[in-house]
Amino acid sequence: MTKPHAYAYGKLGDRHVLRVGFGAMQLEHADPADAVKVLHRAVELGVDHIDTAQFYGTANDLIRTALHPYADSLRIVTKVGAVTHPTERLVTAQKPAQLRASVEANLRTLDTEHLAVVNLRRADLPPGIIATGDQVVDLDSQLAELIALRDEGKIGGIGLSHVSRTQLRQALPAGIVCVQNMYNVLTRGHEDVLAECAERGVAWVPYFPLGSAFDRLPSVTDHPVVIAHAARLGISPAQAGLAWLLGHSPATLLIPGTRNLAHLADNVAVARIELDQEATTAFDALAQDTLAGADANRPR
Ligand SMILES: NC(=O)c1ccc[n+]([C@@H]2O[C@H](COP(=O)([O-])OP(=O)(O)OC[C@H]3O[C@@H](n4cnc5c(N)ncnc54)[C@H](OP(=O)(O)O)[C@@H]3O)[C@@H](O)[C@H]2O)c1
Repeated sequence: MTKPHAYAYGKLGDRHVLRVGFGAMQLEHADPADAVKVLHRAVELGVDHIDTAQFYGTANDLIRTALHPYADSLRIVTKVGAVTHPTERLVTAQKPAQLRASVEANLRTLDTEHLAVVNLRRADLPPGIIATGDQVVDLDSQLAELIALRDEGKIGGIGLSHVSRTQLRQALPAGIVCVQNMYNVLTRGHEDVLAECAERGVAWVPYFPLGSAFDRLPSVTDHPVVIAHAARLGISPAQAGLAWLLGHSPATLLIPGTRNLAHLADNVAVARIELDQEATTAFDALAQDTLAGADANRPR
């Protein structure tokens, strides 16, 4: 079950990273001292790909506190296309000038002059916020702004989030390095986008790889088939669900989120775990169809 070194690494733009990174969204709900410990430990364990956003509350401040000055090997990936709001939690910020302002805000709070990758979080598809009115902005004008920011050296690579296969194809000439859509062993509504990524050498970085911390989405670690095979293999249910993702496509890089040091160690170890055929076949049959329309706003 333990896989050799080469399996554990994947391409994010022009760099190789450990295939298990870290998603910082959960940290906004953590005690700051605990969050800093989790970030330190992640890097100690070999994590060199951290996903964040200015709109994840204190996440950028915590990353700066824990890890600045940043190692050259560390890829901090952020996203633009939304901003926090006093009453709505999140609202869209899709206009090119707003994308630029969000990049500048990330540079400021992370205290850096360069962001490894910036994902454009589109707002056409559920779950989450949907653009309306003058927030409905064409993709090409957004990409033009991100290309300008890349030319200025402020960002290294451009990624996409919440996109269809058609949108990915439209954006490819801009030089897309990764795509973040919701996807896990139970919720596979974007198999076509994954296939396009794999074919084009674009990293597939599914968000909610364990089903999220929200109560309306199915939890991978609660699924009886996942639990049974994990027990048979002597690994945790989270490891089983994440290992299925890594085995399902070599384009996949993971960014599970956790505030828990034991869970963090479990998750990082998945970079060297491969499921056997019996579990793979059983998990392949599990997809419950897309829950892309689900309202994922209630914490579990
Ligand atoms: N592009 C986008 O639009 C977008 C949207 C949402 C999220 N994201 C990114 O994707 C990342 C991952 O998503 P997520 O954090 O929301 O959801 P997730 O990784 O699917 O699941 C997180 C939940 O799983 C639990 N968990 C983590 N490791 C575990 C383990 N080994 N055993 C048992 N439970 C475990 C966590 O609780 P504990 O804290 O107790 O471990 C938390 O409740 C985010 O952090 C964020 O960076 C991107």
